[in-house]
Amino acid sequence: MREGVLIIGAGGVGRVVVHKAVQNIDTFKKITLASRTLSRCEQLQKEVDGKIDIAQVDADNVNELVELIKKVEPFMVLNIALPYQDLTIMEACLRTGVHYLDTANYEHPDTAKFEYKLQWAYDEKYKQKGIMGLLGSGFDPGVTNVFCAYLQKHYFDEIHYIDILDCNAGDHGYPFATNFNPEINLREVSAKGRYWEDGEWKETEPLAIKMVWDYPQIGKKDSYLMYHEEMESLVKHIKGLKRIRFFMTFGESYLTHMRCLENVGMLRIDEIEVDGCKVVPLHVLKALLPDPSTLGERTKGKTNIGVVAEGLKDGKKRKVYIYNVCDHQEAFKETGAQAVSYTTGVPAMIGAKLMVKNIWMREGVWNMEQFDPDHFMEELNTQGLPWKIKELDI
Ligand SMILES: NC(=O)c1ccc[n+]([C@@H]2O[C@H](COP(=O)([O-])OP(=O)(O)OC[C@H]3O[C@@H](n4cnc5c(N)ncnc54)[C@H](OP(=O)(O)O)[C@@H]3O)[C@@H](O)[C@H]2O)c1
Repeated sequence: MREGVLIIGAGGVGRVVVHKAVQNIDTFKKITLASRTLSRCEQLQKEVDGKIDIAQVDADNVNELVELIKKVEPFMVLNIALPYQDLTIMEACLRTGVHYLDTANYEHPDTAKFEYKLQWAYDEKYKQKGIMGLLGSGFDPGVTNVFCAYLQKHYFDEIHYIDILDCNAGDHGYPFATNFNPEINLREVSAKGRYWEDGEWKETEPLAIKMVWDYPQIGKKDSYLMYHEEMESLVKHIKGLKRIRFFMTFGESYLTHMRCLENVGMLRIDEIEVDGCKVVPLHVLKALLPDPSTLGERTKGKTNIGVVAEGLKDGKKRKVYIYNVCDHQEAFKETGAQAVSYTTGVPAMIGAKLMVKNIWMREGVWNMEQFDPDHFMEELNTQGLPWKIKELDI
């Protein structure tokens, strides 16, 4: 019988998923962690007193994945590797008839652009095979989609405007470092901004639109408009939507470093030749920057990620703010990872838990807001990511 979960990826987020899955061992029964570098899996296996099995896998290789899945026979695979592996892991799940979950949208290594098209294309095939794929079960995407679904279900008849607000006020003490995979992070931040209004996407220069938001338990922070993947599915599933935007906070020092690195070409993702060796500048930069998984111990402060929605309820205008605050040091104490990994890993575990318990289970490929949000919202409160909701003046 197929049982348990196969987690692929032993980075910052993978570490949190493992710790939280072990805390919920009654649900998951059997946990296997596989990743490219076995020593990272061994380290985590030690930390959780041998309660997980481990394996080495190259998740870019579908045949290797298929072999591993056949050997482990899990109920589902949690893809906690990188967005580059989404399609190979989805394909391996299809071939073996095993459910799939991820936290980030597919991206091709050579093109800094992400969209759901290629993953949504698996919908029909997953339906025919009788398996489910849950896309984007992290915080944003993930919890932000569930927040929107919850607001739509309980607070509004129609939501007209959504702003997703992501603040990381953590300080790791380094002049420059990224909180998760530097390559993925810097590609995202240096890309053009995009938001959706009146039925069409509008593009802006990178970080060209700024506003100041007063984040509860943190304070006022510069927040910049960016494109973010959850908007692509939310525009399809939220009733009456007229505009959706995404803002993320950045400090002046981070932006100055990033602009400088960009100006000198260090964010380039094409190959260049140096002394007869072919290198990708962004890969060199990644090798020089602190490994995000080592930031946890040094990072102090909090994250606050939430959604502000405005719309109509019973014919009256209403504006509601729903958010979670997560403390870096508390996240580290519990899992050995800072809040950015924590806020992603906990929802990945919750998504998997709802699938294993047959609460969120439907054949095909789905985004988070397409399910009843209530169970997920309850789990957030008990698994370490409690949320608050408040009415705002219009
Ligand atoms: N939705 C959200 O809110 C959110 C937020 C943050 C991050 N994320 C996503 O979460 C995922 C994990 O992020 P992270 O910060 O944990 O990244 P990370 O620290 O770089 O970890 C990635 C892990 O995947 C492994 N991996 C990479 N390529 C592999 C391959 N071909 N085969 C097998 N394993 C491979 C890496 O192995 P090595 O140890 O050998 O390098 C590493 O252990 C990413 O997809 C990221 O985009 C989502």
